[in-house]
Amino acid sequence: MRIRVYSSPRAAADALAALVGGAIASNPGLVLGLPTGRTPIPFYRRLTALCARRAIDFAHVTTFNLDEFVGIDSRDPRSYRSFMQRHLFGLVNLAPRRVNFLNGRAADLARECARYERAIARAGGIDLQILGLGANGHIGFNEPGRQLLARTHWTRLTRPTRAANAALFGGDVRRVPKEALSMGMVTILHARRIVLLATGRGKAACVARMIRGPLTTRLPASFLQVHRNVDVVLDQAAAERLRG
Ligand code: GLP
Repeated sequence: MRIRVYSSPRAAADALAALVGGAIASNPGLVLGLPTGRTPIPFYRRLTALCARRAIDFAHVTTFNLDEFVGIDSRDPRSYRSFMQRHLFGLVNLAPRRVNFLNGRAADLARECARYERAIARAGGIDLQILGLGANGHIGFNEPGRQLLARTHWTRLTRPTRAANAALFGGDVRRVPKEALSMGMVTILHARRIVLLATGRGKAACVARMIRGPLTTRLPASFLQVHRNVDVVLDQAAAERLRG
């Protein structure tokens, strides 16, 4: 794992946007995996600014988002799909047909997960997967537990994860769906390159366990240690437990 520490969340976001810009410049048809959450918002803002001044061209890029809530329509402002529309898709020149998302309202959720896996395979696999980090060590919606699932699946969300997502639901954790669809651990680990972005002191303990701790299903992000091409982009606060 390559650890890169920046002075502020903004500097970390700018560095990640530059990295993604470089990846698109060398491969205009890049297949890009994307996260939601508060952490990537400054990164999306920077990507949008770079696109506005034509420093990044998304015309041939394909995207796959990591996850979506079950039971929430994609047009619902609380969906991850709407979040992405507000923060990136509606602001850059991505071709709508190359934007891929899990449908949390699909009639048959198992089939929907299988469809997503096939779509990723048909696109040639994910070239660059950007990840956030849940405060409990989850990536996508692969929650800590006794076991982790390999492929895109239907999952139950833990209470802390629902609380972390409450902002989308008017701050009321009871309104956050209890279930979601998520790429699996193997879906994520098959990406050719992975970059995880974590900022803020609240992530510091988790970041240290992810990088230095044992591989454990209790901290799904620890499995990134087995991947050959992972960058961890941090601000100083998120890196504070790595010293010494
Ligand atoms: C959600 C998403 C994760 C994301 C996490 C972190 O739970 N499913 O993919 O990494 O939030 O969120 P934040 O960046 O707000 O801490």
